[in-house]
Amino acid sequence: MTDPKSDARRGKTVHGDPANAGHRVLAPDDAEVEAYLETALKAPGPDRSPDDRPGSGAPHQGADPDGPDTVVILDFGSQFAQLIARRVRELNVYSELLPHDTPWAEIERRRPRAVILSGGPNSVYDTGAPMPDGAVWSGRIPVLGICYGAQLMARELGGDVLAAGKREYGPASVTITEEDGLFSGLDREQPVWMSHGDSITRLPQGFHATAQTDSSPLAGFADPSRGLYAIQFHPEVAHTPRGKEILRNFVIGIAGARATWTPANFIDSTVAEIRARVDDHARATDSDGLVICALSGGVDSAVAAALVHRAVGDRLTCIYVDHGLMRKRESELLRTTFEANLGMRLVMVDARQRFLERLAGVEDPEQKRKIIGDEFIRVFEEEATKLGRIDFLTQGTLYPDVIESATSETKAAQKIKTHHNVGGLPADLRFKLIEPLRYLFKDEVRAVGLELGLPEAMVQRQPFPGPGLAIRIIGEVTAERLDTLRDADWIVIDEIKAAGLYRSVWQSFAILTPVRSVGVMGDGRTYANVVAIRAVTSDDGMTADWAKLPYDVLGKISSRIVNEVPGVNRVVYDISSKPPATIEWE
Ligand code: XMP
Repeated sequence: MTDPKSDARRGKTVHGDPANAGHRVLAPDDAEVEAYLETALKAPGPDRSPDDRPGSGAPHQGADPDGPDTVVILDFGSQFAQLIARRVRELNVYSELLPHDTPWAEIERRRPRAVILSGGPNSVYDTGAPMPDGAVWSGRIPVLGICYGAQLMARELGGDVLAAGKREYGPASVTITEEDGLFSGLDREQPVWMSHGDSITRLPQGFHATAQTDSSPLAGFADPSRGLYAIQFHPEVAHTPRGKEILRNFVIGIAGARATWTPANFIDSTVAEIRARVDDHARATDSDGLVICALSGGVDSAVAAALVHRAVGDRLTCIYVDHGLMRKRESELLRTTFEANLGMRLVMVDARQRFLERLAGVEDPEQKRKIIGDEFIRVFEEEATKLGRIDFLTQGTLYPDVIESATSETKAAQKIKTHHNVGGLPADLRFKLIEPLRYLFKDEVRAVGLELGLPEAMVQRQPFPGPGLAIRIIGEVTAERLDTLRDADWIVIDEIKAAGLYRSVWQSFAILTPVRSVGVMGDGRTYANVVAIRAVTSDDGMTADWAKLPYDVLGKISSRIVNEVPGVNRVVYDISSKPPATIEWE
């Protein structure tokens, strides 16, 4: 269910953590706002919906009552495990990543059409090597083993796996010796990506070889009578060009999964589930079943809000705290999108003055973050209290955060708690959580957003940090300096968009430095601000490279800023990568 236009992984951004040198922790785009809220709940653990997969919630009409066909991927520690899940979903089949030792009953409960065993860094003959529940080999559900998963299948069922004399890593050419099943429709010679140190030297009984390379005579093998298939190479990576077809052959061809995981179906079933949950709660508690959502301007909260709105209509109120640290015309964009176009209830809180007052004289970056988090909670609490009894809070948690670790759901909140030390909301402001995106990857969130009618400009946005422009103004944040930066930032984005580069860079923005320099304008000498431009490419914000922007784009940005933004006479381009620099300057 991916947005075909989006190849770049824009999964994550992070928020500040002064304690470590890496400086930041992973969190979704909107995590800052959400973490402020979760932290403030001060509750033992948030009350999440008991549903653990799409379609498993309350029975409803219309959408598929059994939920989508599912493929379970057991994670043996491969760096590509999430990629397998995403590739399967690109086939419009829902997939879930589970820990390798998930008990069979747990797997069966999801009624998977197929199971995929990921690769992993271990050797199968190591003591303590990760193993799946033995029932996975029962033949009841088709299984595909990839790399370590293939070696496991060989060894557990009676074959031999040995340390290979030569490690096979990188591109290889595989010769297909059986063209049916997994390799149906593929040419005999296929470029693939290998990454293994061990080799399968003898197949278990009942298996036959289906593919080979020069160094691995058993690069593919199968026992179709038991629905067991294995490949030594990685079909999920881009370096295996026909890998997606191999996965399709397995998931749809062999396992017979229906390709129904589409944005429209997801929306139908999710809307029905949310509505049923809120209605049930309202009936049981004799309440109105009111829901709130904090809009941050980011993609995740926007899509979550639009989805919940479709389910509960006016019972949802969105709160947008304008702290004055946002990009130019942000309030306008939110008002048009949510109020005018989608007809949603939106409370816009003009808190600009409050934030400015608290930030006056503050220069330390972490101190800025702490103040902003703290003030955000105060404002949010005041507004939420005005709305009367609220039962549910909507959050835009994404799937990568859910699977990252069992504790990931509260991790961001805990980090930020030690960091921001924000105050708590009173006990009567404790909400149940609605997290409609917790099964989705970022590109799926974007596709759902577009399907819900959110504008491209909202759905395809680059990440923007919770503390906003405050951490891009080096030194004190004042109204005047904010205006200068906002104008410069607008020009950067405008020109990057005009050059068609907006989606290929991870982030592009301006920084207002505390440096002033001498210049000439007309006949006069100037002594004015230096603005820096930062544009980076990145997959997830954890590492980044400076973007090699064309000179003419840089030139245009520079001359427009100097000509159009009062008080700026010089523009420089930041050519640092991360590490050792960070993306943001503070
Ligand atoms: P750095 O500067 O650590 O940033 O390389 C990595 C990503 O995280 C974003 N970022 C933040 N996001 N609150 C946020 O919500 C913050 O305090 C914060 N600091 C950095 C940054 O924009 C980039 O995408």
